[in-house]
Amino acid sequence: MMKIALVGVGGISGAHIPAWNSMQDAELVALCDIRPEQMEKYPEQRHYTDFDQMLEAEQIDILDICLPTYLHADFAIKAMNKGIHVLCEKPISLNREDVKRVGEAAKANGVKFMVAQVLRFWPEYEIVKTLYDQKTYGKLLSGSMTRLGCYPKWSWDSWMMDEKRSGLVPFDLHIHDVDFMVYAFGKPNKVTDYRARRPEQDYINAVYEYDGFFITTEASWYASPYPFSAAFRFQFEHAVVAWEKGEMTIYEENGKIWNPVSTDAANDTGNIGLPKSDAYANEIRYFADCVKKDEEPAKVDLSELETVIDLLKSL
Ligand SMILES: NC(=O)c1ccc[n+]([C@@H]2O[C@H](COP(=O)([O-])OP(=O)(O)OC[C@H]3O[C@@H](n4cnc5c(N)ncnc54)[C@H](O)[C@@H]3O)[C@@H](O)[C@H]2O)c1
Repeated sequence: MMKIALVGVGGISGAHIPAWNSMQDAELVALCDIRPEQMEKYPEQRHYTDFDQMLEAEQIDILDICLPTYLHADFAIKAMNKGIHVLCEKPISLNREDVKRVGEAAKANGVKFMVAQVLRFWPEYEIVKTLYDQKTYGKLLSGSMTRLGCYPKWSWDSWMMDEKRSGLVPFDLHIHDVDFMVYAFGKPNKVTDYRARRPEQDYINAVYEYDGFFITTEASWYASPYPFSAAFRFQFEHAVVAWEKGEMTIYEENGKIWNPVSTDAANDTGNIGLPKSDAYANEIRYFADCVKKDEEPAKVDLSELETVIDLLKSL
């Protein structure tokens, strides 16, 4: 049984904690947050308000870091230096030097380290990569990826609204789509971007050019209470592949329209179909399996994350 601890019991921990709790071969034994009230709803775990004390007191195999971005690298290295495997929320850092630092710490201590870049484990996005790799519908011609929402005034200590601590829209939100592009298509040849920024809002429109195709993107924290939405639309030579309002649809040139990610067996062609699943649980399962099998978590390549940081810094 793998013993797990999680630090940073804020917004995103609400996706990680149920995933750990649902696993048969892992036990979430401890939580740490400087605000004790954050942990009250998890009476099954031991609670700590001091990270060092938790590391001293607990014998854990894996640490899951859900802290604000600016704390990720140092907390990860501290745990790895104690021989603990680390799964860390995105982004690893606002600085590419930290990617090297965590990579070296993992190597030196013989432990696994992975950044939880969740779109790499999201069935709808995984299918786009497969269609692109296999040229199922011919070449990719264009893509559109959007991730829109309003200013995150709710974060602890307003850290998300502080550029030095969160990196604002590029590193907090747009990173998801840029990470997917780098993972699926590699490094773009050219980026053209426009940004509308005020103290209480941040909007980016950027075009990423590749050989033979381009991806247009939008990411926002609007000042108005605009609801969160994420979507994509990819134009292949022989099909349009869209994920809109949470539903993925393939519109084939020959008139066939179908959903490749479904709980409906009748829809599953057994070809490129995947079941609907929780991407956060998928990434956590993947990392835990890598630890169990003593395999590198190669699905989230650290050198790709350096490319992502370089691209986001240029916006
Ligand atoms: N993958 C995703 O879809 C996704 C979504 C949201 C957030 N995130 C990432 O997750 C991270 C956390 O974001 P969030 O929205 O949960 O933030 P949050 O502000 O809601 O939570 C952060 C928590 O960390 C605690 N904390 C701060 N300093 C601490 C310390 N020194 N020791 C222990 N606890 C401490 C705070 O009290 C707070 O509860 C960010 O890096 C963010 O980019 C990822």
